[in-house]
Amino acid sequence: MINKAIIMAGGSGTRLRPTTLAINKHLIPIYDKPLIYYPLSLLMLIGIRNFLIIVKKKKKNDFTKLLGNGNNYGIKINYCEQKKPSGIPEAFVLGEKFINNDSVALILGDNIFYGQGLIEIISSEKKISRGARIFSYPVRNPKQFGVIEVKKNKIVKLIEKPIKTKSNLAITGLYFFDNKVVNYSKKLKPSKRGEVEITDLLNKYRLNGKLKADFIGRGGAWLDTGTIDDFYKTSSFVSSIENRQGLKIACLEEIALNNKWISKKNINDSIKFYGKCLYSEYLKKLK
Ligand code: TTP
Repeated sequence: MINKAIIMAGGSGTRLRPTTLAINKHLIPIYDKPLIYYPLSLLMLIGIRNFLIIVKKKKKNDFTKLLGNGNNYGIKINYCEQKKPSGIPEAFVLGEKFINNDSVALILGDNIFYGQGLIEIISSEKKISRGARIFSYPVRNPKQFGVIEVKKNKIVKLIEKPIKTKSNLAITGLYFFDNKVVNYSKKLKPSKRGEVEITDLLNKYRLNGKLKADFIGRGGAWLDTGTIDDFYKTSSFVSSIENRQGLKIACLEEIALNNKWISKKNINDSIKFYGKCLYSEYLKKLK
């Protein structure tokens, strides 16, 4: 069973400059709330309450101003600064103490998952604590992603940005790992681009027969928000659904309240904390 998660919210956000020269990408809004709310909410929805957020050097304060120690959502948040963006698997080296002897989930801080049935798929994988598990999603442009080739439900190949592939199955930014991940990550060597690569880490598990993929079908949405266009398109997606339903995607307090991790009094505290804004108006309706 996985009870801990790391959220990768460092990086340079080069593609979103000039904005990201001053503000961290994960704090910029997707429609009505900061980007980081979305990956955090997904993990809360599958019942995880213990988090390590990896942030860029000197950026910890910006995150604590918003999320604090997680108390408002009935969760525990620790932070760790990454000196430079040297690759996703560095999370497991920086997070060694946090992980301790447990299994761990990792989510990229700019990934958004949405769709009916998704939580059930992800939750069932969370119960297994051996090996590594990834979630794939069909994409139009596989050459821009890490991709898996699958035969008879078995992953036969795993390639980063393939020049040629018949597969359209991209590897999404959500991963579950057993405790071996710490030692495997420590042994990884940087690739030609100077980063340790998540595909190299996943390949270690694959070669040992310990990598399993689950598939998110066309009823689900996996969006990543690396570019300016992604920010606008994803914001518009969230806005369409929220305004149609009158329900919010990724309202952390609502999820915490439904999970019985916080009380209505905590909701009042959050309303005071946010002040007069539409997000607070929504929280008022939860009481
Ligand atoms: P990327 O999209 O690879 O990088 P980036 O966010 O810095 O953007 P750009 O390519 O425009 O410079 O990162 C994916 C996610 O992982 C993102 O949320 C940032 C995070 N990340 C880290 O926290 N540390 C790292 O070392 C890397 C490589 C990424």
